[in-house]
Amino acid sequence: MKLFDLTGKSAVVVGGAGGLGQAIAQGLCEIGANVMITSRNEDSLKRAQSEIKDACGADICYGVCDATDEAQVEALLELAISKFGKVDILVNAQGFNKKHNADEFPMDVFRSMLEANIVSVMMTSKHFGKHMMQNGYGKIVNLSSVRGKVATKAPGNAGYCTTKGAVDMLTKSLAAEFGPSGVTVNAIGPTVTETPMMTSIIEMRGGDTYRKNLADGLPMRRMAMPEDSVGAALFLCCPASDFVTGNIIYPDGGLTAIG
Ligand SMILES: NC(=O)c1ccc[n+]([C@@H]2O[C@H](COP(=O)([O-])OP(=O)(O)OC[C@H]3O[C@@H](n4cnc5c(N)ncnc54)[C@H](OP(=O)(O)O)[C@@H]3O)[C@@H](O)[C@H]2O)c1
Repeated sequence: MKLFDLTGKSAVVVGGAGGLGQAIAQGLCEIGANVMITSRNEDSLKRAQSEIKDACGADICYGVCDATDEAQVEALLELAISKFGKVDILVNAQGFNKKHNADEFPMDVFRSMLEANIVSVMMTSKHFGKHMMQNGYGKIVNLSSVRGKVATKAPGNAGYCTTKGAVDMLTKSLAAEFGPSGVTVNAIGPTVTETPMMTSIIEMRGGDTYRKNLADGLPMRRMAMPEDSVGAALFLCCPASDFVTGNIIYPDGGLTAIG
């Protein structure tokens, strides 16, 4: 199954100690890739490294990087090249979600969400994409969200939805520019998934009652877990998707089909 085999390929997962990033990093290891995870907090990276080792036996490496800082992103690329020789796959799984009503949204929070959720994606794609284009092959997979496609009546989402809509258009624009050099750029758009980013929001909105409401709103009738996004992400990292670019796949339990 060479279409789904990443033996000999190298991947960097930004936000790789987070709920979705760690699950995708482990999936990449399980189909043969050499993986580096990165985020700002070294303790989280060490925890994720050890959990991935326990789960599948893979020895991944990590690099500390604030993906909103261009010098740190350039240093991360150099670190990955020094470890692997080249980077074939970049997964952008960084970001955060803060909810405030639009008429009271603190603008410093709005700006920092733009930095973490979209500026950082441009920054890593710019530098890793250039490296991939020089190699004539590469895969960039961005974590968007159903909220990049459809807004919600639930208040507080103007900041997050804006950043994810921007991720969708950045994905398409980069696909158009990088395609001629053999680099694909795609995104996945999960629905609300039980990860550290969402747990406090879920608890604030009623815990298990809110979980049940979320599940009832999906054709699949259950909450999404990080593992639910791994298959779509891996497809976009694999040779199987070499002619797929500028697309967004929704591992969303059917939400966007009915929303
Ligand atoms: N969970 C959901 O419901 C859901 C649904 C759809 C889409 N998504 C998207 O999926 C991605 C991952 O979300 P998640 O739920 O897995 O969240 P998470 O568990 O909170 O993980 C987010 C990761 O991003 C890292 N990060 C944040 N800012 C960063 C920066 N400036 N530079 C480098 N790393 C940074 C965090 O680590 P540090 O803080 O240590 O840097 C953390 O490892 C996000 O883009 C999110 O918007 C999530």
